[in-house]
Amino acid sequence: MVPGYTEETVLEVHHWTDKLFTLKTTRSPSFRFANGQFCMMGLVVAGKPLVRAYSLASANHEETLEFFSIKVPNGPLTSRLQHIAVGETILVGKRATGTLTIGNLRPGRTLWLLATGTGLAPFLSVVKDPETYERFERVVITHTCRRVQDLAYGRYLEHELAADELLGEIVRPKLRYYPSVTREAFKTEGRITALLESGRIFADLALPALDPAHDRLMLCGSSEMLADTAALLESRGFEEGNSGEPGDYLVEKAFAGEKRAPLASASPAESRNLSGPA
Ligand code: A2P
Repeated sequence: MVPGYTEETVLEVHHWTDKLFTLKTTRSPSFRFANGQFCMMGLVVAGKPLVRAYSLASANHEETLEFFSIKVPNGPLTSRLQHIAVGETILVGKRATGTLTIGNLRPGRTLWLLATGTGLAPFLSVVKDPETYERFERVVITHTCRRVQDLAYGRYLEHELAADELLGEIVRPKLRYYPSVTREAFKTEGRITALLESGRIFADLALPALDPAHDRLMLCGSSEMLADTAALLESRGFEEGNSGEPGDYLVEKAFAGEKRAPLASASPAESRNLSGPA
């Protein structure tokens, strides 16, 4: 046993591509988190914990935990984690934390969840939370990746969640999924920043342009995307929130590398690209 961690058993492994995979594990009944938060997760290597920050892709009402990860070829953790098999164990930190929770946002009409790559993970949790739909009239989840095949969870967000027996009824009228791709032909091409700036996303969704009076946003993705999108929002009068001071938009700072301490041993690619805040 490693202090501060529980051991969880892998229940499912799904490889989306040669670079992306999802793990489902058991969940200790004592593990509590708010939807949108992250925890440390990893393996025991040479007798020591080798862990990274991972967003919980499962919602807090679910009995299992889910993590969405990239595979970094020489990444100390993910080069091992990608080979994990059903029945093996992983370490999950006992404490979850993070700023991407709806409680950190001022009331508003439309919630925009803007993700690139594995930054989608915390929003999978947020869109499964019934409270999200009580707080907002509309929820838009965007996912931008380099290639079409990187749009993991696309079928889930487009069809399966809306067909869910319990959540479908509240999700269907409110949730919109808006994928885009930057390095291949696709129905929607371009970075989220460009789609917001050109106004194309508003035309496609038949929604008004961003307005700090009504729109609330959460950002999770590469540090460059976070910086550029935050600058765009600030220039339009949006104020950033954090734990304790609700705002118009939220950024997962751990993802941007400000809390690198627990990630010190990560290769730059691994620490930049892991699920959500890693
Ligand atoms: P692009 O292909 O134009 O770089 P990555 O795989 O590097 O983490 O990137 C994931 C997605 O985020 C890619 O589609 C990438 O677009 C996009 N992206 C990278 N930098 C930015 C940025 N500064 N603003 C918006 N999107 C970005």
